[in-house]
Amino acid sequence: MTDIRIEGAEITIVGGSSGMGLGLAQRLLDEGARVTIAGRNEKKLASAREALGDHGRLRTAVLDLTREEEVAAFFGDRGPVDHIVSTAADIEGAYQLLPDIELGAAQRVVESKFYGPLLLAKYGASCLRPSGSITYTSGVAAYRPAARGTVVAAVNAALEGLVRALAVELAPIRINAVSPGWVDTPIWRFVAGDARQATLEAMAKRLPVGRVGRSEDIADAIRFLIGNGFTTGTILHVEGGHRLV
Ligand SMILES: NC(=O)c1ccc[n+]([C@@H]2O[C@H](COP(=O)([O-])OP(=O)(O)OC[C@H]3O[C@@H](n4cnc5c(N)ncnc54)[C@H](OP(=O)(O)O)[C@@H]3O)[C@@H](O)[C@H]2O)c1
Repeated sequence: MTDIRIEGAEITIVGGSSGMGLGLAQRLLDEGARVTIAGRNEKKLASAREALGDHGRLRTAVLDLTREEEVAAFFGDRGPVDHIVSTAADIEGAYQLLPDIELGAAQRVVESKFYGPLLLAKYGASCLRPSGSITYTSGVAAYRPAARGTVVAAVNAALEGLVRALAVELAPIRINAVSPGWVDTPIWRFVAGDARQATLEAMAKRLPVGRVGRSEDIADAIRFLIGNGFTTGTILHVEGGHRLV
C-alpha cells in the first residue's frame, strides 16, 4: 500500500492537452485527482477538456513553460500543489540532419525540454508539499539516437541529468522522469510527417513487444512515479524493449 494518495490530490500536467499528457489527465481524473492541464494553445486545451469530460475536478491553463514570467505567475496564483508533471516538448523543425538544423528549432527543443522543466522546478517547488513530486519526460532517443534526432537525443540526456540533480537539491520532494520509446501521438507529425504510419509500423515489427507504445502505457508509468514514495532520481524506461534492438 503506497503512502501517496491520488484521490483528491492537486496535480498539474504541463503538456496535458495532447498525447501522453492527455492520457495521464484521463487516468488521474478517473482516480479522483484534481487536475490542471496546461499548454500554449487555448483551442487544444478546449478540445482536451471536451475529450476528458466535465468531472468538476478539471482546470485548464494557458501556459508557455519556456517563459519565466508566465511560469512565475502560474505558480504565484496557486495554493498547494501535490504533484507536477511535464510532458511538454516543442520539436517542430528540429528533426533534421546536421547541415539542415536551424539553431532556432534546436533552441526551442532545449527551451521546452530543459529550461522549461528547470523553471517548473524553480517556481513550482515552493508550492509542493514535502510529499510532492515532479515528473518529467525524456525519451529513448538519448539511448538509441537516430539520424535527424541529434538535438532531441542530447536534450533528453540533459534532462535526465537535471532529474538526478534536482532529486538531491529539492529533497524530500521526489523528482523522476519517464523515458518513453516510440508512442503513437500527435508529435509524430513533426518527426515523420506523411511517413508517420509506415515508420511506426516498421518500429513495431522491430520491438520485442511487437507494437509501438500507447499514451496509456506512459500514463501508467507516470502514475507509478507519482504514487511511489520511495522512488526519486529515477529514469523509468517504458519503450517496449527498444534499447535492446
Ligand atoms: N511520442 C513519442 O514517440 C515520444 C518518444 C519519446 C519521447 N517523447 C516525449 O514525450 C513527451 C510527450 O510527447 P507527446 O508524444 O505526448 O507529444 P504531443 O502529443 O505533441 O504533446 C505535447 C504537449 O506539450 C505541449 N507543449 C509544447 N510546447 C510547450 C510549451 N512551450 N509550453 C507548454 N506546453 C507546451 C503541447 O501543447 P501546445 O502545443 O498547445 O503548447 C502538447 O500539449 C515529450 O517530451 C516528447 O519529447 C515522445
